[in-house]
Amino acid sequence: MKNIVLVGFMGTGKSVVARRLARRLDMKFISSDDIIEEKEGRKIAEIFEKSGEPYFRKIEKEITAQVSGLDGAVIATGGGVVLDEENITALKKNGVVICLNADPQTIYERTKKHKHRPILNVERPIDKINELLQLRAPFYARADHQVETTGKSVDQVVSEIIKIYNG
Ligand code: S3P
Repeated sequence: MKNIVLVGFMGTGKSVVARRLARRLDMKFISSDDIIEEKEGRKIAEIFEKSGEPYFRKIEKEITAQVSGLDGAVIATGGGVVLDEENITALKKNGVVICLNADPQTIYERTKKHKHRPILNVERPIDKINELLQLRAPFYARADHQVETTGKSVDQVVSEIIKIYNG
């Protein structure tokens, strides 16, 4: 049974949606960011701060290769996983890759209460969000399917994904 892989920008709801999806379909929920933190024994913010983003991307790539080998799991990935082409290729092997989208203001509202995302821990997060969305658009476009989340409930998004998955 193919995995369902959620990719997309920070704050598009990957983790929340993946959890609910896994429960609805009775599949296993996997968060690649959680696995990275477990493996490293420290939070992502600390990995960025102490070891730098290239180191984080290296570990992210190892973990992506690992979770790509699963079967019948709902996998929530980190927002930057798409930047490395080999990650997407690996995830597509046994997975339907679905990109969650949201408009910049929605992303800002959803992420502003949290401080655990080093990339958005800047003076003007909305500018960073706009800049990165533009930069990353061609990478997110490589997913098998796109799902808009702005203005939708988690259950609505989950239902749309189930329809896609069941073909
Ligand atoms: C990142 C997104 C984060 C996490 C790291 C880098 C990114 O995951 O992997 O902070 O580059 O977009 P979420 O999308 O789950 O916040």
